Amino acid sequence: MFTINLNGTTYRAEEDMNLLDFLRDEARVTSVKNGCSEGACGACTVLVEGQAVRACLLTAAKASGKKIMTVEGLSKKEKEAYVWAFAEAGAVQCGFCIPGMIISAKALLDKTPDPSVGEIKEAIRNNICRCTGYVKIERAIGLAAGVLRGEMQLMAPAREGIGSSLPRVDAREKVLGTGQYVGDMHIEGMLYGAVLRTKYPRALVKRIDVSAARAHPGVEAALTAEDVPGERYWGFISKDWPALVAAGEETRYVGDALALVAARSGKAARQALELIEVDYEELEPVTTTVFALSEGAPKIHPKGNLLSTTRISRGNAVEALAKSAYAVTHRYFTPATEHAFLEPESALAVPQRDGGLTMHVGSQSVYEDQRGIMSILGLPREKVRVLGKLVGGAFGGKEDLSVQHHAALLAMRAGKAVKLTLRRQESILVHPKRHAMEIEMTTACDDGGRLTAIIASIIADTGAYASLGAPVLERACTHVSGPYHVPNADIAGWAVYTNNPPAGAFRGFGVPEVCFACETNMDLLAEKVGISSWEIRYRNALESGMTMAIGQIADPDTAFKETLLAVKDSYEMNHFGGIACSIKNTGLGVGVPDTGRVKIEVRNGKVLVLTSAACVGQGLATILTQVVNETTGLPAERIEVGPPDTFLTPDAGTTTASRQTLFTGEAARRAALRLLEDLNHSSLTQLEGKEYLGEYTGHTDPLHSGKPNPVNHVAFSYATQVVLLDDDGRLKKVIAAHDLGRVINPAAVEGQIEGGIAMGLGYALREKFLLEKGIPKTRFGALGLLRSSDMPEVEVILIGKNTKPLAYGAKGVGEIATIPTAPAVASAYHRYDGKVRFSLPLADTPYQTK
Ligand code: FES
Ligand code: FES
Repeated sequence: MFTINLNGTTYRAEEDMNLLDFLRDEARVTSVKNGCSEGACGACTVLVEGQAVRACLLTAAKASGKKIMTVEGLSKKEKEAYVWAFAEAGAVQCGFCIPGMIISAKALLDKTPDPSVGEIKEAIRNNICRCTGYVKIERAIGLAAGVLRGEMQLMAPAREGIGSSLPRVDAREKVLGTGQYVGDMHIEGMLYGAVLRTKYPRALVKRIDVSAARAHPGVEAALTAEDVPGERYWGFISKDWPALVAAGEETRYVGDALALVAARSGKAARQALELIEVDYEELEPVTTTVFALSEGAPKIHPKGNLLSTTRISRGNAVEALAKSAYAVTHRYFTPATEHAFLEPESALAVPQRDGGLTMHVGSQSVYEDQRGIMSILGLPREKVRVLGKLVGGAFGGKEDLSVQHHAALLAMRAGKAVKLTLRRQESILVHPKRHAMEIEMTTACDDGGRLTAIIASIIADTGAYASLGAPVLERACTHVSGPYHVPNADIAGWAVYTNNPPAGAFRGFGVPEVCFACETNMDLLAEKVGISSWEIRYRNALESGMTMAIGQIADPDTAFKETLLAVKDSYEMNHFGGIACSIKNTGLGVGVPDTGRVKIEVRNGKVLVLTSAACVGQGLATILTQVVNETTGLPAERIEVGPPDTFLTPDAGTTTASRQTLFTGEAARRAALRLLEDLNHSSLTQLEGKEYLGEYTGHTDPLHSGKPNPVNHVAFSYATQVVLLDDDGRLKKVIAAHDLGRVINPAAVEGQIEGGIAMGLGYALREKFLLEKGIPKTRFGALGLLRSSDMPEVEVILIGKNTKPLAYGAKGVGEIATIPTAPAVASAYHRYDGKVRFSLPLADTPYQTK
């Protein structure tokens, strides 16, 4: 028996166990998050006798008799100080790291009430945040310190409408840990799911026997492929991914599921997995694209190993190259990377009396989840209700089904609620990654440095399953020419299946990879011409009315040149400065149906905004509040945004392609305009119960429409980033100038850019996803994610001249924030030591991990 003094209340643990498991599962204190279970993320930080400690590294025995505090135990004054400070600074995004951050902050402020920035950075260096880039978190801690010293008031200036930094509407619940992620949910009598995965990336599965697992006293269901009632194969575009691999089939990667178990405890579920017998014939995995495309290579899928091909041609690149004054040709390699969202995947499936199912998920689209589950379970739409909970980060890694279908299958078989939460190592194993790419690129120009042609070939390792590999390759091909006017282009790309983990959507969707090649070539071409890296970009910058390599005419509101001008001095006047630019589409485009939808209801004297669009941390509810506030003039506190629900909220598509602010924002504006018509002659009270629908569809042309100047995307954002190094070759500052159209919430946009830069710096300098024969050989703590102490100063310059009415002129920011960072870092090191680097992460920098 162990005694745990938690926030002033005494709990008892009958047996010794991990302290984090005790806090979450026994004491049900769920502000303490489980991001890794291995001491590497800091999401579980608690105070033990006043010291910030990671609970997952402690046991009940070691904590016995000691005073433990979580955010629930803060004084009222402290709670209000942190809520205000984090909201005011715009420091909250997905929120999963925040309670742990606050505990680390409290440990600091209790001892050092007026800390320096360096002391704040040091205090939170064991707390990983994948969303914010730490900049605003550090500011928030400074603000909270000011309040706690009594030097600042909890006053916020009135902020309303477009262009104001309205504080996040979900800040309070995320700071105090009262907001629910799926993993925080508990239903009395629920079961715990677990998944048996293949031992080998490629093996013939000869036999799977779950009889001993079924006989385990704690087990209520054990399933194999035979138990899938509907269509066993699923996928976003190509249905090539089995929910469970059947005996007689080959596995394709180490995340493949062979059997599922639901038991009355997590421990029993894990024990049952050990009892499952599998006979394999291990086969040589196909782990390189070269092998996959070679004559006689084993076929990973019946159609072969080529998922997709993309070709883009404009003018005559070969002829133009021959006539060009200068040209550079290089081969680039970019690695697979892990999203490392802080919240591992979790789903809770609850069977209903009518034979249906209610799912609680934390994904990028409740409707995509519903479609997948309907198909795998063979259930009609009205029997599958999917509700969205808070999402602890996604970055593209929560588009595919990962746990949802398995929880659903188990719950339907067991007839009881089943929660399936991945441990961090399993999460790393299972979900699709950023594509590893090999890019060969030629860039040519005339003697004045004006681009004449590009020729590029891109080979993408798309891993075991299609996921979104084909459109990722397509975006890589459409963006490899960068934000420049290139009259002649010859671009070809291939997405190739291997037995590596699948590759799919990841912030930037193929563009960070090719931006590294495009921008490094621009630097090298500038050297040949004898002009600066800034100058060559300026001479070739896309302007309104110019034609892109895909044929689309740049919009009248294009402000790319303004981003270059904004950083000119920072680049030219700093000896160790690097520069890179990028372009990124907003929305799915290329003729794919793309619609945002919103329903506004007047309920209880308030305006309720309903949409399925997921907030994955970017702050969509706040943006929609501002759009409705601006359109109707109703105060922000009369507007609420409800959670996604396939039974109640209209389908606004997936949170992907930087699309929600524009698409769902515009849908909200249209719904709000209808409400405004009524408000012109009625009070809100008189409109009680009324509903207003808003819908916006972006109509675009397919990639090969045959039109000379198609509209492939409704909008493009542009950016120029400059990275400065100090004399020791360490990061000193990043200056980021972004053309994002009209900015709806400057603090939110800055937060996206700062977080995107942190991710881009990690991609440039340190992030690794090591594979050995198709098997991931990395743990969360070894991914190389940037810590607060690694982050340089960031200066964000927002340039918005878009005057279109669509969503008040907003364009996407989520992805472009991260795209130019890695090549800007490479450019800086090139100036620093004269070496050109053709692979990521960059070699020979002070940031390498052993
Ligand atoms: S869960 Fe404890 S450090 Fe990550
Ligand atoms: S807000 Fe820090 S991980 Fe998302």
